[in-house]
Amino acid sequence: MSVELNVNGRVHALDVDPETPLLWVLREDIGLTGTKYGCGVAQCGACTVHADGETLRSCTAPVSWISNRKITTIEGLSSKAAKAVQKAWVELDVVQCGYCQSGQIMSAAALLEKNPKPTDRDIDLAMSGNICRCATYQRIRAAIHAASRQLTA
Ligand code: FES
Ligand code: FES
Repeated sequence: MSVELNVNGRVHALDVDPETPLLWVLREDIGLTGTKYGCGVAQCGACTVHADGETLRSCTAPVSWISNRKITTIEGLSSKAAKAVQKAWVELDVVQCGYCQSGQIMSAAALLEKNPKPTDRDIDLAMSGNICRCATYQRIRAAIHAASRQLTA
C-alpha cells in the first residue's frame, strides 16, 4: 500500500505495509540512518524523532498513524534551538559511544523549543525517556543549560 510521508520537508510516496514502524521506513526505505534502534519497545529513546515538533518514539509508531504529520529527523534538525543544542553538545564534548545521542539531541531540542529556560527538574523530566548506557547524563544536562544560555542571551 502507498503511504505518503513528509520527512524533513520532503514528501515521500512509499510502497510499504502501513503497520511498519516509522523507524524502519526512515532507515530502510528513505535511507536516513541517524535515527537509531535501541529497544524497539518505546523504552530507550534512541529512535526519537519529531512529529509536528513533538517527540515521537519511531520504533513503535506505524507509518499509517503519522502520514499526516511533519516528521523531522536528526538529519533535518535546523531550528534555532536545535542549532544551539548541537553547538553545546560539541563544546561540552557530551558524546561517548554516540549511539543514544541523536535521540538525546532530538529530545533536548524539543524541550528548548517549548521552554528556552528549563530548570534541572524540567530537563530531567523531558529527558527521562532517553537512556544512555555510557551515562553522559551530567554532560547532557550541562549542555542543555549551555544551549539555553545561548538562546536567551
Ligand atoms: S528503539 Fe525506540 S525507544 Fe528504544
Ligand atoms: S553515549 Fe553511549 S549510549 Fe549514550
